[in-house]
Amino acid sequence: MTSDRRHLLDLDDLTSGELETILDLCSPERADPVLAGKGVALIFEKPSNRTRNASEMAVVQLGGHPVSIRGEEIGLGVRESVEDVTRVLARYHALIGARVFDHRHLEQMSGVGEVPIVNLLSDLAHPTQVVADLLTLRQRWSELEGHTIAWVGDGNNVARSLVIGAALAGVSVRLACPAGHEVDPVAVDAARAQGVEVYETSRPDQAVEGAEAVYTDVWVSMGQEQEARDKEDAFAGYTVTTELMDQAAPGAVFLHCLPAHRGMEVDAAVIDGPASVVWDQAENRMHAARAVFQWLVTR
Ligand code: CP
Ligand code: NVA
Repeated sequence: MTSDRRHLLDLDDLTSGELETILDLCSPERADPVLAGKGVALIFEKPSNRTRNASEMAVVQLGGHPVSIRGEEIGLGVRESVEDVTRVLARYHALIGARVFDHRHLEQMSGVGEVPIVNLLSDLAHPTQVVADLLTLRQRWSELEGHTIAWVGDGNNVARSLVIGAALAGVSVRLACPAGHEVDPVAVDAARAQGVEVYETSRPDQAVEGAEAVYTDVWVSMGQEQEARDKEDAFAGYTVTTELMDQAAPGAVFLHCLPAHRGMEVDAAVIDGPASVVWDQAENRMHAARAVFQWLVTR
């Protein structure tokens, strides 16, 4: 099939204008029945609450039928080659979403080129999460360009997508990550090349200074469980507390992609307090998934 088939493996698959178009498509009244009579395969090699439910409901809202598949059912690259799994699913479905341990499997899937492939979280990136995050911030700020967001914690898959997505939207980023757990420098350089400021420090208090949003995530991502003890030691002092939020800009909001661990990366007083927008973020996962699917299947 066509080699110019579009995919979303991370947000650097999009231009600034395309990201803005997708954010506009997140409005429920923009949903069209573009998947009427069609299926969408949703592969999950890791657990999921938000992404599975948001993606399934997004497909339903576009008139389609979601089929969620657990990793062990198809054995990507084990029971059958990644390419063969993709070729077969493409005969039934208009789009394939996949949550995978190994980002290279998404690249292999997109290489087949028959249907759009959407990254539903990999070890490297979580782009549909960040579309929802940017939507959440745009709902508060009206426009994104010129604002500043801080990331406190692990320079992980969500952080990577956030840095790239923020840069596409003209949002400056202030990163506080412990040594050895920084955000992928390739993503940081790509963001700076977009012309936005990316400030890097190991001190949470320095990162949140002037930030209008403070974002954190788990210290131990799915698939890193064997590193839990070492990571928890490395992240001592990186909890988002009310004292830390008080050092951000007045009115700053708190974001977390969830699931959250109260008392670890964030205190209950913050995530359950007035600055928290995490439930809107979670709802926006559905609007973002719907917009991404609609945009991709109508290319
Ligand atoms: N934020 C997020 O991706 O949540 P799930 O792991 O529950 O899908
Ligand atoms: N960084 C986390 C995000 C979970 C939504 C993980 O990969 O487990």
